[in-house]
Amino acid sequence: MNRNDYKRGSISVWDNAWVHKKIWFDLGKPVDDWGYFDFFRAGYLETWLLKNKNILCIECGCGSASISTYFSAKGIKTVMLDASPSALKIAKQNFAKYNLEGIFINGNMENLPIASEKFDLVISFGVLEHFEDMKPAIKEMVRILKKGGTFFAAVSPRKHSIQLVADLTINVLMRFLYNIKHGWFKEAFLNSYPAKPEFYENSFSARQYVKIIEECGLTNVKLSGSRPFPSLNLPVYLYCFYIQFMKILRFAHLFFETHSSKLTELIGVEWNIIGYKK
Ligand SMILES: C[S@@+](CC[C@H](N)C(=O)[O-])C[C@H]1O[C@@H](n2cnc3c(N)ncnc32)[C@H](O)[C@@H]1O
Repeated sequence: MNRNDYKRGSISVWDNAWVHKKIWFDLGKPVDDWGYFDFFRAGYLETWLLKNKNILCIECGCGSASISTYFSAKGIKTVMLDASPSALKIAKQNFAKYNLEGIFINGNMENLPIASEKFDLVISFGVLEHFEDMKPAIKEMVRILKKGGTFFAAVSPRKHSIQLVADLTINVLMRFLYNIKHGWFKEAFLNSYPAKPEFYENSFSARQYVKIIEECGLTNVKLSGSRPFPSLNLPVYLYCFYIQFMKILRFAHLFFETHSSKLTELIGVEWNIIGYKK
């Protein structure tokens, strides 16, 4: 692992991880919990962020570019940027699958190869929490925003949430059963608890996130709890039941996303942060 990039996005960890992934965003029918989370989020973000369809949007640290694929399918002009070439390969496959057009840039968020004040909307999902010092990347995201433009980031730093509860209960049990099923008894008793992730995750509080983002030149910054459902380690054939369960609760889920409180901040696996360029 490249130690220099570990606390600056863990780019090499992600680049290795993306090599083993396949096309994974399905606009019509999510096949696992992550697909459903992206699909659900893209739907409510459409109403929040895409009131005006004639905008230019960039997704920084796009990975597979799930949300941008959805936005592009809704007619938004989108640019995707990632430091990982293997992520961009998947993002391109997602776009090609739906015959969508987009611009793909291999670049570093701490030094964006983009002129200032170009975009109406700058978005990122699951990226900023991988920086020990988020300011250089956020300042760059703000620099390329037009005045009055919108910044949106979803983050999942190390925090207490429903994910921690699931990791210590259902996910331990599922890993235990998986190991037993394969006859890996020692593994089952020693290694069924969640492993420390390979990538870096910061643990700033909600207030610290807001303060740092405001210091980077954004105003009217609002943070809210997001995603009351954890990611589960299920056998593939069980995801359809979990997705069905979440679909039944979709109105409660939407209420959760739209009614911010200390409780939703605590329970939510992620935080949504929105702000505007002065
Ligand atoms: C958790 S993944 C994001 C996944 C993505 N948002 C999605 O929905 O699939 C984090 C992404 O940020 C990228 N990244 C990390 N540090 C970066 C940096 N300094 N510049 C650009 N991209 C970076 C990684 O390569 C990785 O693809």
